[in-house]
Amino acid sequence: MALETFPKEQTLEMRKRLIGQSCRLFFSHDPVKIVRARGQYLYDENGLQYLDCISNVQHVGHCHPSITQAASAQMELLNANTRFLHDNIVQYADRLAATLPNKLSVFYFVNSGSEANDLALRLAHQYTGHDDVVVLDHAYHGHLTSLIDISPYKFRKLGAQKDWVHVAPLPDPYRGMFREDHPDLAQAYADIIQSLICDVHKKGRKISAFFAESLPSVGGQIILPPGYSSKVAEYVRAAGGVFVADEVQTGFGRVGTHFWAFQLQGEDFCPDILTMGKPMGNGHPLACVVTTTEIANAFTANGVEYFNTFGGNPVSCAIGLAVLDVIEREDLRGNALRVGGHLKELLKQLQAKHTIIGDVRGVGLFLGLELVKDREDRSPATEEADQVVKRMKEERIVLSTDGPWENVIKFKPPMCFSMEDAERVAEKIDQILQDLKRTHHKVESRH
Ligand SMILES: Cc1ncc(COP(=O)(O)O)c(C=O)c1O
Repeated sequence: MALETFPKEQTLEMRKRLIGQSCRLFFSHDPVKIVRARGQYLYDENGLQYLDCISNVQHVGHCHPSITQAASAQMELLNANTRFLHDNIVQYADRLAATLPNKLSVFYFVNSGSEANDLALRLAHQYTGHDDVVVLDHAYHGHLTSLIDISPYKFRKLGAQKDWVHVAPLPDPYRGMFREDHPDLAQAYADIIQSLICDVHKKGRKISAFFAESLPSVGGQIILPPGYSSKVAEYVRAAGGVFVADEVQTGFGRVGTHFWAFQLQGEDFCPDILTMGKPMGNGHPLACVVTTTEIANAFTANGVEYFNTFGGNPVSCAIGLAVLDVIEREDLRGNALRVGGHLKELLKQLQAKHTIIGDVRGVGLFLGLELVKDREDRSPATEEADQVVKRMKEERIVLSTDGPWENVIKFKPPMCFSMEDAERVAEKIDQILQDLKRTHHKVESRH
């Protein structure tokens, strides 16, 4: 099979002409054309290999043979919508249920993280009868109109905050309003939610949902203070609202110790609605909302059928089942724990050597390296982070940045990432930071 239809320059010219320019490319100054991939490796049109440190969608590895076989076998047989009775959807829901607390037991299958979050908003509204939503600052929950409305990362750029949306500070122990030296971070940040809820009530409004990622990713790979979610859930439920955990990025064993990132908050915490997406189908569009029977019943009670043409079709569910099988068979959760732990340790060693590394954080294969100009005032080293990403690309390692100041280099690679990959990444970052320091010194001594 030919790997290219057009030479790279022509592909680029056609893309500029035909595809909306708000759909951006990685490395827009010098885009990479990828024609095939396997595991954690991408290959360009000349056969050059790139190490992929950011594709959390291709969760069990790009083009995993078990996934492609499951997809093609089911495609040969049947793909129909969910109004016909079929085993795959119930078998898949049953397998997912086994990874979750009993309370989360009713599933709705959809095609993207955005669809999942939009449905979560509807479920919350229907169950509570309330309209208002509390979100964390810098959050992103999807591209639908309803989700731009609850994504400060997007609506701030548009200068348009809806009156039913309330933004709480990101509980970021490194850069947030309360930091790692605070005696009770969880309580301090949860107290703000409590007072926000009081303000909402004073305006005569009522909370429908608190909506947050279990580990805020666009916010800069943040690890929520332990105990935070339980306290917030208590306040939100007391106000008649529900707790929605967005695990579109973080689910399916990425954190290593648990299957779901919300479980990092302890045994006593369980959201009322959980949304999932990206890694579910290993690149096939498959996403889901799971909730309690009470919430699902309230949604059913409105008498309106929920129909989704593609959601939960036999091919999607065959793929979802194959993804779960590979996670188990290849112990990818264990791999995330071991390799992620090793990479974190290597990055910590670099932190001891390079003052530009302000913070190294994360769990499993969800890590962040925050660059700062000054460790005291923690001023973000945005340009330097950008330079590191560009230089890593020259080394054929694909990385990107996140966080409100785009100074957090993020790692969320396919879960088959190896110890050798981790070592190669750390070694190259070390070299690049040394080079940056040398260039910086030369410029300083010229002045
Ligand atoms: C946390 C989070 N929620 C929801 C979404 C939306 O998912 P999708 O792009 O599949 O619609 C994203 C996408 O980046 C996301 O990161």
